[in-house]
Amino acid sequence: MSNFSATERTGSTTPELAGNAALCQIIQQQILAHPLQRIPFSAFMEQALYHQEYGYYSNRARQIGPSGDFFTAPHLGSDFGQLLAKQFVQMWEILGQPQPFTLVEMGAGQGLLATDILRWIKQHHPQCWKYLRYIIVEKATGLVNAQQQQIEKEFGKEIPITWKSLETIASEPIIGCCFSNELVDAFAVHQVVFEQGKLREVYVALHGQQFIEIIDAPSTTALADYFAQLGISPTSSDYPDPYRTEVNLAAQGWLSSVAACLQQGYVLTIDYGYPAARYYNRVRSQGTLQCYYQHSHHNNPYIHVGEQDITTHVNFTALEQTGQQVGLQTIGVTQQSMLLMALGLGDRIAQLGQSDSTDPQEIFARLRQRDALHQLINPMGLGNFGVLFQAKGLDPRMQQQTLHGLDTPISLPL
Ligand SMILES: C[S@@+](CC[C@H](N)C(=O)[O-])C[C@H]1O[C@@H](n2cnc3c(N)ncnc32)[C@H](O)[C@@H]1O
Repeated sequence: MSNFSATERTGSTTPELAGNAALCQIIQQQILAHPLQRIPFSAFMEQALYHQEYGYYSNRARQIGPSGDFFTAPHLGSDFGQLLAKQFVQMWEILGQPQPFTLVEMGAGQGLLATDILRWIKQHHPQCWKYLRYIIVEKATGLVNAQQQQIEKEFGKEIPITWKSLETIASEPIIGCCFSNELVDAFAVHQVVFEQGKLREVYVALHGQQFIEIIDAPSTTALADYFAQLGISPTSSDYPDPYRTEVNLAAQGWLSSVAACLQQGYVLTIDYGYPAARYYNRVRSQGTLQCYYQHSHHNNPYIHVGEQDITTHVNFTALEQTGQQVGLQTIGVTQQSMLLMALGLGDRIAQLGQSDSTDPQEIFARLRQRDALHQLINPMGLGNFGVLFQAKGLDPRMQQQTLHGLDTPISLPL
């Protein structure tokens, strides 16, 4: 057992920096209640983000967006949702226009994406709208309220939307698409360290009131299994020693629950991440964990506890491998920029340049929208996000049809 050398990753004794006092106390009690007076990092992160009352996602509905800590694609306007909606309508057609056709959005934030998708399908595809059921799966109850308000503000109560758990959906599996934007990066992860040829795990313990890290034997064999399955061994001599990274075991459990929800259709996952070989590259010796607080980022999860986002990149290879084990076949991997261009974003940018208007307000609105569209495909930002399409239960005719979002002239690997 050893204290980790990166001493800056400890909690703060300064109350302003420490974070939510009630939450810190709850986590401290959990640590003290444990026989070894420590908890795996994943348990710390789970509480920091999702404690029912004080967790980051549970206690504040306004944390995402320009006035919050970070923003996501739906905050850049309706285009992202509209283009995804086009993709969903094509899925409906490929699946033989099922009645009902179900969209399951997992981790819906403030409900912006849901609103944009529903509005576009209602306006442009009344036939699909007629048979559409929209389900949101959301872990944070504070956000469920925000989503309900956002959606009711536009549609009233008369729309085909419900909030459910994956387990409830699985009892009556759906035909349609289960999708998420920036969900998997928000799961609590195990942190691990490869040291002197051994896999070890990061635990959170206390020094007085302060959170500190302790490195010891793994709490579960699933961590070693994970690297064995990927065929990656960061103990080899070309890796730095110690080599620190993280493992998103929750993503595997989540994907297997998603597969159980799906009778026939697609799973679409959009997020930042890498294939395993790039993720666990020897140069990335501190992992990918980042904390977001008021639009600045750093890598200390033990400050601003409950008041900052904690996130890690997604290992897309692990999602594909888990998918294969649970009956989800990968049908395509691309980047967000390619996905959106294939769905018509380029035409939208071109159209924005084709106005003769001299109205300053209209010109300004067009410039703002053009800037937003460029941000959605920026190769240094959102455009570089990974997009994974998986499918289940498609018949041979359905399998032959290419999804528009994958119909790109250039196919860029992640
Ligand atoms: C980074 S936010 C992204 C929100 C939204 N998709 C967007 O693009 O703005 C992550 C979202 O996933 C939710 N979440 C995290 N884990 C979840 C889980 N296991 N099931 C459902 N929602 C979850 C969070 O509460 C939050 O709404």
